[in-house]
Amino acid sequence: MQLQSTDDRYAKAVATSKRIRWDIDRDVIRGRAFDFNKKFLPDGLSKTDRLDFLTGEERRLLSQIQGRTYANMFGLVERFIAAKVLEITADHRLGNQNALEALVRFGDEELKHQELFRRIERMCAAGMPDGYTFVPEPNAVAAVVLSRSTWAVLALTCHIELFVLAHYRESIGEDDDVSELWRDVFLYHWREESQHAIIDELEWQRVNAKLSPEERNLAVSDLIDLVSAVDGIVQMQASADADYFLKACGRSLSQEEVERVHAGVLGAYRWQYIVSGVQEPRFSKILGGMITEKQADRIGTALAPILN
Ligand SMILES: [Fe+2]
Ligand SMILES: [Fe+2]
Repeated sequence: MQLQSTDDRYAKAVATSKRIRWDIDRDVIRGRAFDFNKKFLPDGLSKTDRLDFLTGEERRLLSQIQGRTYANMFGLVERFIAAKVLEITADHRLGNQNALEALVRFGDEELKHQELFRRIERMCAAGMPDGYTFVPEPNAVAAVVLSRSTWAVLALTCHIELFVLAHYRESIGEDDDVSELWRDVFLYHWREESQHAIIDELEWQRVNAKLSPEERNLAVSDLIDLVSAVDGIVQMQASADADYFLKACGRSLSQEEVERVHAGVLGAYRWQYIVSGVQEPRFSKILGGMITEKQADRIGTALAPILN
């Protein structure tokens, strides 16, 4: 097998992005509404099948709440991803024009995705009980993330875009009980994210090559801080969603069951937003190729409480 050059990889990302480009209304929504008789997030991601004291209907509601948050989470991270992409696009202005075009398209697609997820939130709100809140604010989160080194932001972005691919491949595309429109949203999203994951890797490596060992060591600390910030957001939102579910489910559960709902949602969110990405072989391979054993141990120690 002949290895593709970096230029070929950017050029291929541009060609694919052009070929598969979709429109929110014409291709994805097509005048449809969500079927609230179906699940949104499949069991493989929502882990609601572990809460065996809930009725089927209650588990379905919990999967819809988690699905609503899932869409909002992408809208959230795409704010800082688009901002960072816009910034690093400038590095290619007078350089490789395939890289420049790949990044311009990447940024444009993330703006479209944010619009898509705002639409999804409004469509969820129309069919679900009042009282849902999405706690984190996109610009506040972006300010925190973008204050850290580009290496760490690209590492986090690569991690996110790789778990997007894994979730669709392994869960969302497989489960027939999932709302058809829901599945389509993440099918179309996945198609454009496939190019983003390639560009993330190329850009992350380009930035990595310019760092001194000391700068890289600081960037590893930034990445550890960012993952812990993601975990803080995950904890806050898991708790808000569990409370919303307990109010909306229409019956009162025992104290033990309430605690299991809270723990179940937190475990599912940590799986969705952190663990499933960290365990992606493609992610560990790229990261492992950049850092020392000691730095890998530091990351491992920081992740241990989340992985357990
Ligand atoms: Fe996206
Ligand atoms: Fe993306």
